[in-house]
Amino acid sequence: MRTKIVAGNWKMNNDLNASISLISEIKNSLIGKNYKTKIIICPPFTSLETTNALLKGTSISLGAQNMYYEESGAYTGEISAKMLISVGCEFVIIGHSERRTIFKESDETINLKLKAALANNLKPIFCIGETLEERENDKTFDVIRRQLIAGLKDLGESEIQSIIIAYEPVWAIGTGKNATPNQAQEVHKFIRDLLQREYSTYLSDNTIIQYGGSVKPENANELMSQPDIDGALVGGACLKSDSFIKIVESAE
Ligand code: PGA
Repeated sequence: MRTKIVAGNWKMNNDLNASISLISEIKNSLIGKNYKTKIIICPPFTSLETTNALLKGTSISLGAQNMYYEESGAYTGEISAKMLISVGCEFVIIGHSERRTIFKESDETINLKLKAALANNLKPIFCIGETLEERENDKTFDVIRRQLIAGLKDLGESEIQSIIIAYEPVWAIGTGKNATPNQAQEVHKFIRDLLQREYSTYLSDNTIIQYGGSVKPENANELMSQPDIDGALVGGACLKSDSFIKIVESAE
């Protein structure tokens, strides 16, 4: 049985004070609740240490939104896996489509980042997904296959077991236009079949595959009831505690 995981990606939102308020609200909403769903919160770098302190004693895990693959050195503005570990991160989002498009991250860079995260015991949330143009040109499965195979290149099955995959169709991110449950399920099934063909039935059965792209309380239930959708990576709707908690409740 795969556990459901709901992760909130705050993106470049919330300064330190706003982070403290949002975490406090989320914690208050969870008092007395005993959800089976795993919750991960990914604030900006500047709020990680404080968020970690606020989350002590809760079952919520901390994740970062990005990292660099080198250990240390002259890489102005970058953050290493060890630095993330030192402020309490357990997870890190890698290969988000905003990183791929705005910051021109390639499959090769993403592969190096996945390797560096795993080498430091950080669990990656590895994002893949097609653009609207790719979908309209019937390239969805080709793109997903390429991103998955290239991203996981040279990684062993035991390492891949620590990776969460997030299918995020780029055309659905921040647009309010989510994939229909059938569209999402179709790609999730494709990813699972690919994992089986390339690796093993065990990996295919046990890998968590989240859906991301305009997940909100109104569509979360239907999306997460699909057999191959194991939770959500939430952007916009995680910036308000009540909508984020409603999505967690849908996962339950
Ligand atoms: P969204 O973002 O929920 O605002 O569409 C999702 C994501 O980018 O992970």
